[in-house]
Amino acid sequence: MTPRSEAVAFKEGPRRPPVMPALGYDIYILFHLAGAFALAMAYGGLGFWALNEKEAEENRFKKHGTIAHGVGLVAILVGGFGMLANLYPGESPMSLGWVHIKLTIWVALGGGLTLLKKKPEYAKEIVIIAFVLLFAAGSIGANHMPWFGA
Ligand code: HEM
Repeated sequence: MTPRSEAVAFKEGPRRPPVMPALGYDIYILFHLAGAFALAMAYGGLGFWALNEKEAEENRFKKHGTIAHGVGLVAILVGGFGMLANLYPGESPMSLGWVHIKLTIWVALGGGLTLLKKKPEYAKEIVIIAFVLLFAAGSIGANHMPWFGA
């Protein structure tokens, strides 16, 4: 080891061992996209019901919408981190700026349904914002390289 590489190794600390992803990129991307579609369906279904000014309790498919929302969020996260483990083995996924932005969007889309339940009078705004956030997350996923130089 040269003095320089020793100094670099000291500064950076021990290298993380490469993470061995359990599944391949092409499987994780399917989880990811299926999760995004389920989330969009949940916002569409429950959001348009609220737009009709119908009581949430009258919706016989409220439980299905809530399940699609929860399962969709989990699938997005599993698929997202699974893809990152395949794309950047041995690197922390949190070192990528665009991952922070997508995680923030993920949290917002997680909380948005509770907001819809508590404030159905804002259903129109919530549905529009959910659409914009889904679109933003999708375009960051597809185009992050030129935007963020990652
Ligand atoms: C919140 C809702 C999210 C939606 C709607 C979403 C949607 C998408 C879409 C449409 C793509 C493009 C797939 C393609 O190019 O074929 C993508 C890619 C990706 N997303 Fe997400 N995503 C979300 C959140 C996240 C989160 C939280 C993470 C990180 C944990 C993440 C990590 C990734 C990765 C690693 C890619 C692949 C990038 C590449 O191939 O270079 N996404 N996402």
